[in-house]
Amino acid sequence: MTAVNTGSQASASPEFDPFSPAFLSDPYPWFARYRAEAPVFYSPALDYWVLSRYEDVRTAFRDTAAYSAGNALSPVQPPCPRAAAALRDGGFRAVPTLTNTDPPVHTRARRIANAAFTPRLVARMEPFVRELAVHMIETRLQGGHADFVRALSWELPALVIFKVLGVPDEDVPRVKEGSSNRLLFMFGRSEEERQVQIAEGMAAFWRYTEELATDRREQPRDDFTSSLVQTLDLEGQPLSQQEAATVLFGLLLAGHETTTNLLTNALRRFLEQRTIWEELCAEPALMPNAIEEVLRYDPSVVIWRRKTKAATRIRGVEVPADANLLLLIGSANRDEEVFENPDVLDIHRANARDHLAFGIGNHLCLGAPLARLEARVVIEELTRRRPGLRLVPDQPFTFHPNISFRGPASLLLEWETAST
Ligand code: HEM
Repeated sequence: MTAVNTGSQASASPEFDPFSPAFLSDPYPWFARYRAEAPVFYSPALDYWVLSRYEDVRTAFRDTAAYSAGNALSPVQPPCPRAAAALRDGGFRAVPTLTNTDPPVHTRARRIANAAFTPRLVARMEPFVRELAVHMIETRLQGGHADFVRALSWELPALVIFKVLGVPDEDVPRVKEGSSNRLLFMFGRSEEERQVQIAEGMAAFWRYTEELATDRREQPRDDFTSSLVQTLDLEGQPLSQQEAATVLFGLLLAGHETTTNLLTNALRRFLEQRTIWEELCAEPALMPNAIEEVLRYDPSVVIWRRKTKAATRIRGVEVPADANLLLLIGSANRDEEVFENPDVLDIHRANARDHLAFGIGNHLCLGAPLARLEARVVIEELTRRRPGLRLVPDQPFTFHPNISFRGPASLLLEWETAST
């Protein structure tokens, strides 16, 4: 690293390549250096300003007068013209509705989404989540070794969000495939030919969500989608068909890819430290705080985005108007000004819940209660049914090449069959 911000302007940019294998496999040493030496810097390669301290990230999330969420879903690298054409020709017509809007557009859509995604709906999912977890553990964690991602964490969150939205189970593989592709499109870097394929898949997927919204408007059922299309705003208007389909399109990604990574990161981290795993096996009441702590320590959304509305100064660094910002959530969560011994996973940490893994403010993750529920139930059932689980030693971890959604592609487990 060569640069330090001493005055009003970053003198040079520190090394920052969020797609490099080393960064993807462990970004935390970089985060620590940025916090210490260049908490606000410009990355010319990405054309983003990078914020790494807790207070700055928190402010960018909360201060809707100064910061816009308009770029939250934009491709990090603009799609090639052929991919853009494939989206257009395929009928893709998502409109900024929720994640990438500002008040008052956001306020209206979020009010409707909140009314449809209720605490009651989440609570009602617990028996279903538990039944799925038990079934997957008992049928797939057999014979003394398994890949946790293939056996459980890849599929369970998808089945859960599908149940919530009212989508048939048989579409799970298709949706999971489609969403990995979308992650690459929005948060990654791909070759031109691959971009075109992904764009075609996204357009097909878009048409699917439009059909779902139309179907539930015509024939409402007892599911989130029906509530979403029926709930009215303060002027007595429902979401337009395009807006409703956009929210569904978003949930079919946000609703499981993130949770797959949460489950995998949580199990990995708890097993890496045997004493933590044993404590959790002995004392299930520790689980909720342990989940908060793992969300802090190893969040499944490690970077999020905002842009400035006007020129501003952050920690003395001048940032122009309309500048793209990368909010390093993973770094904010390890900020030593907020969390004591931040590099230690401490499931008893009193302020673990102050993490920014779900964002904060008006865009605070809609699905946070569901994600927490899934993690708690799955880890609880694992501690109860497979207390002898261990990580296969020295396994290599690989991470998908995108800047935001982070979790290992596989997690190899072993256990003594006699003790399970
Ligand atoms: C571990 C799991 C999850 C993580 C780490 C996560 C993280 C996030 C983050 C960082 C944001 C952006 C906040 C902001 O812009 O201020 C967000 C927004 C959102 N999340 Fe999640 N999420 C998770 C699970 C879920 C689930 C299960 C759902 C749906 C059931 C969901 C739905 C959403 C929606 C709809 C938004 C946009 C809310 C808005 O703009 O008002 N997320 N999430």
